[in-house]
Amino acid sequence: MSPPLRSASGAALSVQNLRHDLKPGDPLLLLPELDVEPGGMLALTGPSGSGKSTLLHLLAGLAQPTQGRILWDGLDLAPLSESARDRWRRERAGFVFQDFHLIPELSPLENVLSTVWFSRFSARPLRGRALELLEDLGVPARSRTALLSRGEQQRVALARALLPQPAALFADEPTASLDAASGAEVARRLRALADEEGRTVIVSSHDPALIALADRRLSLRRGAEAELS
Ligand SMILES: Nc1ncnc2c1ncn2[C@@H]1O[C@H](COP(=O)(O)OP(=O)(O)OP(=O)(O)O)[C@@H](O)[C@H]1O
Ligand SMILES: [Mg+2]
Repeated sequence: MSPPLRSASGAALSVQNLRHDLKPGDPLLLLPELDVEPGGMLALTGPSGSGKSTLLHLLAGLAQPTQGRILWDGLDLAPLSESARDRWRRERAGFVFQDFHLIPELSPLENVLSTVWFSRFSARPLRGRALELLEDLGVPARSRTALLSRGEQQRVALARALLPQPAALFADEPTASLDAASGAEVARRLRALADEEGRTVIVSSHDPALIALADRRLSLRRGAEAELS
């Protein structure tokens, strides 16, 4: 295994009085309070359209809430400039998008390395780790990404998010395209990232097996206060 690029310690999340409106006066998300400790795993649940992806994007600093505070290790993302939020994300966060956001013409290996092309990390020492992640996840490194199945593409997206060893990992329905066995394996890996490496893991999911592994569940309903259990 290549040496870690970042501290293995996770990040702590604190959300206060979060509200996100689709348009003025039309609230989608209402979340008065939420805390997730380093090494904690939270699952966002709720019907399609309840705001799971939107909340993941807000928590990862990919979008700005209408109101409220989202603090990671005490740093409030909301008032940061876009470039400062980008920097925070590059250094601390990994994101698996619901629709993967892979570049179909590139190989899986190139996709996994693509985020570090734009960061301060040099891609060369990361090649070995990228190959190892793809092998562990059972995806060919050198085919054309466009030729892979959706389930294989989902695992490439996960490998890309894991490459820089993020303190916080966000995964939007990371088992949705996987069969039961690969889904269970991905769920086990996400849990291990929290348990063994102290990372903070936030997933959205409809998958009962993945949801059951989380420490807590945040149930979303459009326009209503989210419920933590
Ligand atoms: N940029 C946007 N502008 C306007 N409406 C949006 C925007 N993004 C999302 N929405 C709306 O917000 C609602 C929540 O969408 P979101 O994608 O967060 O739901 P979800 O819970 O992730 O659903 P799914 O389970 O289908 O992935 C939807 O009604 C969607 O149409
Ligand atoms: Mg979604």
